[in-house]
Amino acid sequence: MSLSPLHFSAVDPQDPALEAFLIADPWPFHGTVQHSAESVAKSVASGAYEGPDNEPHWIWLGAERVGLVVFRELEDPTPVFDLRLVGAARGRGLGGQVLAWLAKEAFGRHGKRRLEGHTRADNLPMRRCFERLGWQQEAHYRAAWPDPAGTWHDATAYAILATEWAGGPPVEVPLVFPPAGATSPFS
Ligand SMILES: CC(C)(COP(=O)(O)OP(=O)(O)OC[C@H]1O[C@@H](n2cnc3c(N)ncnc32)[C@H](O)[C@@H]1OP(=O)(O)O)[C@@H](O)C(=O)NCCC(=O)NCCS
Repeated sequence: MSLSPLHFSAVDPQDPALEAFLIADPWPFHGTVQHSAESVAKSVASGAYEGPDNEPHWIWLGAERVGLVVFRELEDPTPVFDLRLVGAARGRGLGGQVLAWLAKEAFGRHGKRRLEGHTRADNLPMRRCFERLGWQQEAHYRAAWPDPAGTWHDATAYAILATEWAGGPPVEVPLVFPPAGATSPFS
């Protein structure tokens, strides 16, 4: 598998390829780890792959379908996304290429000001992609993400701003509480 540019195409939620794709691999960092025909049908029926709030795209490397990426919450000021590469396509730098494409779409075609990504704290490949592409970690949520076995994992939130994507300086994440004596405008 080479590192030639990816390309993307719209997903028809009724296309049997969607069910086949979601069932073929386990997804340990997603809410539904092992999809079935029933769980996919339920998710499609719930509108999870329908606009205007959702925008699903196939990810292609040449003629090979290597993943699925879905913009979610597009009707909110800040969209998020769901990204899944097939097992054979992971660990080859494609995740970063998808993040770059998502930012171009979010800040270009969709005119958004920020784009967010949430992932379990132990999803180190996803977190490395965020860091490599200049996204900043804005939150670490303790014991926030239950897995099907009932274990609660930490979760993280990353974001990139349109200004950062356009080449502007990184905007600091001010996680330190304001010093004693600081005042709120409305108190
Ligand atoms: C998460 C995902 C999108 C990342 O894309 P990818 O193309 O596999 O990632 P890349 O090859 O670009 O980069 C992976 C990085 O993680 C590192 N990495 C991979 N496996 C790792 C592991 N087990 N522990 C620590 N680091 C690891 C790689 O060394 C690489 O680091 P580098 O940037 O310093 O070279 C992809 O693996 C995937 O689809 N996984 C399954 C679905 C998923 O988890 N989606 C995200 C849910 S929010």
